[in-house]
Amino acid sequence: MTTITVLGVGPGDPDLLTLKAKEAISQADVVAGFETVLKPVSRWIQGEAMPMRYRDQEEVLDVVAARAAEGKKCVVCVWGDLNFSARELVERVQRRADETVLIPGISSVQVACTRLGLYMEESIFITLHARAGTDESLAELVEVLIKGKRNAIVLPRPYDIMPADIANLLLEKGIQAQTPLHTLQRLSFTDESGQDYTLGALAQEEAEFSDLTIMVFPKAR
Ligand SMILES: C[S@@+](CC[C@H](N)C(=O)[O-])C[C@H]1O[C@@H](n2cnc3c(N)ncnc32)[C@H](O)[C@@H]1O
Repeated sequence: MTTITVLGVGPGDPDLLTLKAKEAISQADVVAGFETVLKPVSRWIQGEAMPMRYRDQEEVLDVVAARAAEGKKCVVCVWGDLNFSARELVERVQRRADETVLIPGISSVQVACTRLGLYMEESIFITLHARAGTDESLAELVEVLIKGKRNAIVLPRPYDIMPADIANLLLEKGIQAQTPLHTLQRLSFTDESGQDYTLGALAQEEAEFSDLTIMVFPKAR
């Protein structure tokens, strides 16, 4: 029986790696993950590190599965937590193993909530990260903003739909320009930053945002 462990490495600060994840990484024969994801945990890797990129992830995961079939302890690392916008990778691993052991991590979304004093039970999480279309997610965001009953926590899509683009799309869909929101960049890193905007001001923003940015629209008071 092939077993592969999938674990969340936290939002960037290595001190936010769980003890359980740290132990699984240090005991593994093989530790795979995207290059940026392996970085915060590199000091704990004692076996073979297998960095992967989007374009070769299938091949790297095939090698991980082959090693697991030989009885090696294999771990695949995911950024933040597994249950937040990591489904595609988790499912890629699940397709290759008889059994996957899932170890949760601390999500950047939890850090965002902590910084802003928000509660998940009063919030909705929307990711635009899915490779497939984003129309449905945007339509859902519009609905949540119109209702105003929940905080909307939004993950932009780094390679094409960044905060200013999202602001413009929401304005086109009739959301008010004075709608307040926060942007949080590089949460838990030493250069973490946050800024308050109105939707109208964000639509005009020319400064670049980090790939690690979360947008939060607070619920109406
Ligand atoms: C594919 S999603 C994975 C989220 C991850 N599973 C988690 O729980 O944090 C990547 C997106 O999460 C957000 N993100 C991850 N880490 C972040 C951080 N340290 N600060 C701000 N946003 C972050 C960004 O929106 C980024 O584009």
